[in-house]
Amino acid sequence: MKINGTPYRTIWPTADNTAVEIIDQTKLPHIFETLRLENMRDAERAIKDMQVRGAPLIGVTGAYGVALSMKHHASDAALKASCDMLLQARPTAVNLRWGVEKMRVLLTPLPESERAAAAWQEAARIADEDVEICSKIGEHGSELISTMHEKKQKIVNILTHCNAGWLATVDWGTALAPIYKAFDAGIQLHVWVDETRPRNQGASLTAWELGQHGVPHTVIADNTGGHLMQHGLVDIVIVGTDRVTACGDVCNKIGTYLKALAAHDNSVPFYVALPTPTIDWTIQDGVKEIPIEERAAEEVTHIAGLCDDGQVRNVQLTPQGSHAANYGFDVTPARLVTGLITERGVVEANAEAMRGLL
Ligand code: MRU
Repeated sequence: MKINGTPYRTIWPTADNTAVEIIDQTKLPHIFETLRLENMRDAERAIKDMQVRGAPLIGVTGAYGVALSMKHHASDAALKASCDMLLQARPTAVNLRWGVEKMRVLLTPLPESERAAAAWQEAARIADEDVEICSKIGEHGSELISTMHEKKQKIVNILTHCNAGWLATVDWGTALAPIYKAFDAGIQLHVWVDETRPRNQGASLTAWELGQHGVPHTVIADNTGGHLMQHGLVDIVIVGTDRVTACGDVCNKIGTYLKALAAHDNSVPFYVALPTPTIDWTIQDGVKEIPIEERAAEEVTHIAGLCDDGQVRNVQLTPQGSHAANYGFDVTPARLVTGLITERGVVEANAEAMRGLL
């Protein structure tokens, strides 16, 4: 996608193939800065500190992390240590496990002397594959929006939560890919963007990338969706996900479940867009089996923003001494999900329909 007219991916190898570069997402929307990852520790830190975030991008960064480590030490012990360390960086998005394990399986049988080159090639292939997958998700999802537009003959209002746009993948996005494809095809649409406290991925990232693409959007406080749905102002909800179980339970950014409940109560279709590597075929019950990340309380007690003097500063919101809890994700049961938009088409969120994706 483009930033001020220049096409970018969220992660790319440097021209001399010695490192990778990323967009530092902790600085957006006020500062656009790229960052060089030289070794596995840099990749691990970028994932942990959310300089890169979003399930598919976390997976690709994990793969590049292994590739960077092989450039320095390609022994069995180094391969094991870097894979194990990267897997610990964030717990919820299953794509990290997918990306790192793909590298481990490919590299383990190779002689040490071949590992660095093979790893670099495989990480680049995984990145390219993510772009293709997301583009296909966009095509399938935009058909839903287009059908809705034909029926309604008016602007289609779409609500999304968190950031599942191109910043969360290598390019295109998952939940936003259908929106970009439909918008580019000339369909009239408007996006309600949940601000997504506490990290504000909606207000900071989704609003920024939709704005860069010229898509009409409105940022709303996280508590607004239910009201909009009761008044017929939301035609469809599309969100991304960090892990879907084999039975169709969907784990996504905290607050997604509440939107699904409101959508169900108001008969608003609730779709989840995902690449099939986001499906964890080893688990069934999302509430019981998906590890939910808990992050620092400071992300709740403090907030960063642009001050009148042009500086970005962090300020405290809560009284000194108040405790805060910061659960990163929640699980929406399959029964509240209208459909899963994947690169292989749209399927119902249940075990039988999902088996067709295998
Ligand atoms: O904590 P984050 O910003 O990594 O959470 C991101 C989300 O929850 C996204 O909705 C999800 O990863 C899907 S990204 C295509």
